[in-house]
Amino acid sequence: MTLPVAVLVSGRGSNLQSILDACASETVDARVVLVLSNREGVPALGRAERAGVPHAVFAMRDKSERAATHAAMAQAIANAGARLVVLAGFDHILAPSFFVALPGVPVINLHPALLPLFGGRGMHGDRVHEAVLRSGATESGCTVHRVHPETVDLGEVIVQRRVPILPADDAVALSARVLEQEHIAIVEAIRRFTPVPNLI
Ligand code: GAR
Repeated sequence: MTLPVAVLVSGRGSNLQSILDACASETVDARVVLVLSNREGVPALGRAERAGVPHAVFAMRDKSERAATHAAMAQAIANAGARLVVLAGFDHILAPSFFVALPGVPVINLHPALLPLFGGRGMHGDRVHEAVLRSGATESGCTVHRVHPETVDLGEVIVQRRVPILPADDAVALSARVLEQEHIAIVEAIRRFTPVPNLI
C-alpha cells in the first residue's frame, strides 16, 4: 500500500524534489498527494507543478490568521488523504489547530543540524549553519524528527546524518555539504513510515 504524503514548503524545494524523485523511481513506496506553501511563487511550487502534484498556497496577512490558516491547511491535507505530513524547508511553526484537524497523522520535520543542538525558534537555513560555525563544532549534519504541538525541534529523532566541518568552511560550503545528506535523510525517514510488505 503506497503511503500518501503531503509536503509543506516555503522556498527552494530541493528536498521536495528529492522526495518526488524517490517516489517516481520507487526508491520509496510513497506518493506525494499534495504540496502546500505558505509563500506565493516559490520554486518549490514549480517543482510540484512539473511533477503533476496538486499544490496550493496558504499565505497569511498577519499572525491573527495563523490558527485559521493552519487549520485550513490541515483540512486540505485530510481531504487529499495524506497519511504523513513532511515539513521540508517550511519556515512557520504550526499552530495547535493544525494537529487537531489531523488526528493520527504523523508530522515530521527536516532540520539542517544535529538536534538537539542548534534548533529552536528562529533557527532556519543559513542561520543554523552560521551558529554551528561560530560554536567551533567539528561536525554537523541533519535531523529528521517528529513534530508535536507547541514544541520546536524537540520531537523524537527518526534519522540523523553527519558531515565533517572543514577548516575553510563558511555557511555556504557547510550548507551544501549538509543539504546532500538532507536529500538522503528525508527519503529514509519517509521509508520508516511506509507499510512493511507482506512477504507471505
Ligand atoms: C533545508 O536545509 C532544511 O533543512 C531547512 O531549510 C532548507 C530548505 O531547503 N529547514 C530548516 O532550517 C527548518 N528549521 P529546500 O527548500 O531546498 O528543501
